[in-house]
Amino acid sequence: MPYSQEDQQWIKSQLQAEHIGQEILIYDAVESTNDTAKRMVGESDNEGTVILANSQTQGKGRLGRSWHSEGNVGVYLSILLKTSLPPEQISKIALVAGVALVQAINEFSQPRAYLKWPNDVLLNGKKVAGILTEYCKKKEHSEVILGIGINVNHAHFPISLQHIATSMAMENGEIFERLPLISSLLNHLDREYQSFLNEGLSPTVDQWNLNSDMFGKHISLTKGTQTFFGTAMKLDAEEGNLVVLTDNGEELAFDSGEVTLME
Ligand code: BTN
Repeated sequence: MPYSQEDQQWIKSQLQAEHIGQEILIYDAVESTNDTAKRMVGESDNEGTVILANSQTQGKGRLGRSWHSEGNVGVYLSILLKTSLPPEQISKIALVAGVALVQAINEFSQPRAYLKWPNDVLLNGKKVAGILTEYCKKKEHSEVILGIGINVNHAHFPISLQHIATSMAMENGEIFERLPLISSLLNHLDREYQSFLNEGLSPTVDQWNLNSDMFGKHISLTKGTQTFFGTAMKLDAEEGNLVVLTDNGEELAFDSGEVTLME
């Protein structure tokens, strides 16, 4: 079912959040909620405005990929965060969001979801949710757009995605209501984001490490034109970088890259 305008009130009534979700705007179809949010930068005094769409015609993924955004079955939302964080801290917001996202999914899903660096959420080894953060500066206003997509009730995916994508419904054998999942996500996000602003990255990194099952596994990590092979060790507490013990015994920390879990 598409969202109704009353859904906005229902979500708000469930929020304990101090900042995120003071304003929630619901659309039936947009090209991309991140692009809708981008057009709103500098327009509102509210912090944490949420743009929620029932479907996207040009949903965007990381690294220029597209995000499959079928109507009625997924959660597609973007949050506008006004931030005075220094540039090197802004990229950490995706780690904060990853922790909130996996916590929210695990309130509902029976098989447990896990984080895969940098910010994918996997259910039974396939991708169930993803995060795309973008930074937008317009005159004196700079805001971070935090885009989140969750495959909730998809019954199938296009052939090209079938080996990598899944939905909460496919792995649980049941259909989930989207609204409780959304309100849980916004509550977790508010809490994690406030903790990051007040206490720094370390508590987020602890939670990240607890909610990932990639450590101790053999991985390949591609960064630019280079590919590294080794064992994923942990995220380091200071920067949230991925520490890898390479196959030739070197310990390296990565701030970005694409990870493949080896069999
Ligand atoms: C990824 O894992 O590649 C990131 C996927 C992010 C998808 C969400 S859906 C809502 C928001 N709007 C977009 O166009 N993309 C993000």
